[in-house]
Amino acid sequence: MTKVLVIGANGSVGRHVVASLVEGGHEVRALVRDAAASSLPAGVAAFEGDLAAPESLTAALDGGVDGVYLMWPGIPVQPRVVELIAEHAERVVYLSTDVPDLADDEPAVVFHQEIERLIRRSGTAWTFVRAIDFAGNALGWADQVRTGVVRWPYGRARRSLVHERDIADVAVRALTEDGHDGGKYVVTGPESLAHAELVRIIGEELGTEVRWEELAPETAREQLTAAWGNAAFVESRLRAWESFTREPERVTDTVEQVLGRPARSFRSWVRDHAEDFR
Ligand SMILES: NC(=O)c1ccc[n+]([C@@H]2O[C@H](COP(=O)([O-])OP(=O)(O)OC[C@H]3O[C@@H](n4cnc5c(N)ncnc54)[C@H](OP(=O)(O)O)[C@@H]3O)[C@@H](O)[C@H]2O)c1
Repeated sequence: MTKVLVIGANGSVGRHVVASLVEGGHEVRALVRDAAASSLPAGVAAFEGDLAAPESLTAALDGGVDGVYLMWPGIPVQPRVVELIAEHAERVVYLSTDVPDLADDEPAVVFHQEIERLIRRSGTAWTFVRAIDFAGNALGWADQVRTGVVRWPYGRARRSLVHERDIADVAVRALTEDGHDGGKYVVTGPESLAHAELVRIIGEELGTEVRWEELAPETAREQLTAAWGNAAFVESRLRAWESFTREPERVTDTVEQVLGRPARSFRSWVRDHAEDFR
């Protein structure tokens, strides 16, 4: 039995990390900001803490743990969090994204690089689970799906969206088995599907017609900037989607290599989330 602290235990991935650890008979501590508002499985010990206030994690780490599952919610990086984890845990599994390693003196482009660098230097054993794009991002279409038309740019952009349960399963293996130290696991879904095909599959699984309507990139830029409030992020997404019309987003076999079974399909993800679209 392994003792694991799950940080971000209510998150889209973290909740499956918790469930799968419990199912495997492991001892689970969950870090949440509000225990009363969290619905954790029976037997999980909830600890309240905030990554913005590193010392608030000490109770959850008290006495030491075998492993920590860490996600970072996009708040300013707190190096002390990584120090505390390294002082109390044998290993850390970090939910990252597909980023190049940073040299010691290089500035980070995204916070994941900075956290990875802190972890690499911390002295604790680590595994990075570098997810490319969550299938859960398709929930951003839910309101439009309900109207029967999804208006979005780059219908031919081919994506490799990964089911959050596969990310969690890979993380749990790295937390509970030997042989994953130093792993930089780039995880994706098993297939490459164009935006317009993803929308068609959503409609098929819901049993309702959902039409794709191509949105001009200039219109999308305006609408997404208003909705997301981050022009640089919108720009980087538009650039990436345009590039996926020429060169599909990468598909890896990491899930299959680590778990010994194929990654879950996008269709199965829609089935698992049908209620979220209704
Ligand atoms: N979407 C993608 O395509 C994609 C791809 C690669 C990597 N990622 C990364 O995945 C991570 C998100 O993971 P997720 O989807 O599992 O999470 P999520 O569903 O976005 O949930 C956010 C989690 O962050 C926790 N949280 C927020 N602020 C916190 C704070 N100040 N202190 C402690 N916990 C805090 C929340 O805890 P409470 O329950 O306390 O609110 C919740 O568990 C991000 O780092 C993102 O960059 C995303």
